[in-house]
Amino acid sequence: MIRIDSVTKRYPDGTVAVDRLSLEIPDRSITVLVGPSGCGKTTTLRMINRMVEPTEGTILLDGEDSRRQPVTTLRRSMGYVIQNAGLFQHRTIVDNIATVPRLLGWGRQRARERAAELMERVGLDPSLAKRYPYQLSGGQQQRVGVARALAADPPVLLMDEPFSAVDPVVRKGLQAELLRIQDELGKTIVFVTHDIDEAITLGTMVAVLREGGRLAQYAPPADLLSNPADGFVEDFLGADRGIRRLSFFPSDALELTTDAVIPADATAARIAAVEAPHLLVTDADGRPLGWAAREELTAGDLRTDRLLPYGRPFVPGADSLRVALDCAVLSPVGRAVAVDGHGRVTGVVSQQTIGEAVRAAHTAGRADEQKVAG
Ligand SMILES: Nc1ncnc2c1ncn2[C@@H]1O[C@H](COP(=O)(O)OP(=O)(O)OP(=O)(O)O)[C@@H](O)[C@H]1O
Ligand SMILES: [Mg+2]
Repeated sequence: MIRIDSVTKRYPDGTVAVDRLSLEIPDRSITVLVGPSGCGKTTTLRMINRMVEPTEGTILLDGEDSRRQPVTTLRRSMGYVIQNAGLFQHRTIVDNIATVPRLLGWGRQRARERAAELMERVGLDPSLAKRYPYQLSGGQQQRVGVARALAADPPVLLMDEPFSAVDPVVRKGLQAELLRIQDELGKTIVFVTHDIDEAITLGTMVAVLREGGRLAQYAPPADLLSNPADGFVEDFLGADRGIRRLSFFPSDALELTTDAVIPADATAARIAAVEAPHLLVTDADGRPLGWAAREELTAGDLRTDRLLPYGRPFVPGADSLRVALDCAVLSPVGRAVAVDGHGRVTGVVSQQTIGEAVRAAHTAGRADEQKVAG
């Protein structure tokens, strides 16, 4: 475990970049440092691998002062990834990834095999191995940066705004990939960003820093959203904090109804028995086709081309309350369609029912907090 114990960094010109920071960074999880520009994120990360030495305080690695380890041993146990990947422009992709293993004295063949294995792991096509960095897209270069940092299999990864130079879609892909890699390899990752959404997506724990390198709050993302420590954290989290918090509540407790769900070949009697103004029509396998107003439905003569779109369905259990709410808001009839893992309809749920579940979830969240506080 990495423990930052009351660490201050004062640069020679008197700038206090980090002010008495204490953090316990849990093993095998992602800890995110987030905060506005200049709040000391990079300085903190660099103190962990001793590219910057603290002025005061101690950084402990598994309980031992990091200054007691030779700096080369320390750095080998920590992969480092930076913005724009920081690749060696004159080396091919495979040689970039093999850099540290080669420095450690691995043979060329073994190092290249390791590089090929890592390319696969980070989702890079093997055909890119012989290219140079300038022949890759920004997102591909970032993947190479991650592969290079993983090459010697260090237990710790330090990542400084690694995904901030790529567009939002590529960035989402890289975030998902990082979560998958973390799941498979169980690294201890310290990740710096100034994007609060990225922090919430990736972090097991999130440290919010403020100007002057002071810690504003250190908490799991759901707690941050439900209980910001002060106005600074609240502002930093942004206006839609309540909606975003719903991502942490499951949708499987939503009560689904099935009486308005009918197959395309339903009889007139079945259609007449429905009380709701809109019916969800399904195909023979139970997959959704679309919504129809009850009075426009004629048994045996269903015009599927005239159905209203059913929008995006949600999967109870797999999707959060936020997704379910989004589906209902986007639905032309104000109802979200629930499906199973095979895309077959399991029921529908109204905006109103979801609204009640949202209120219940927020109340339960507050009760939990009071328990913790009390
Ligand atoms: N070598 C240095 N000498 C003097 N001051 C420095 C030095 N490096 C950083 N600083 C200052 O320390 C403070 C924290 O810098 P740091 O790079 O850690 O911030 P950051 O949170 O990573 O910011 P950004 O989001 O812009 O990358 C800033 O005020 C910066 O100007
Ligand atoms: Mg920085």
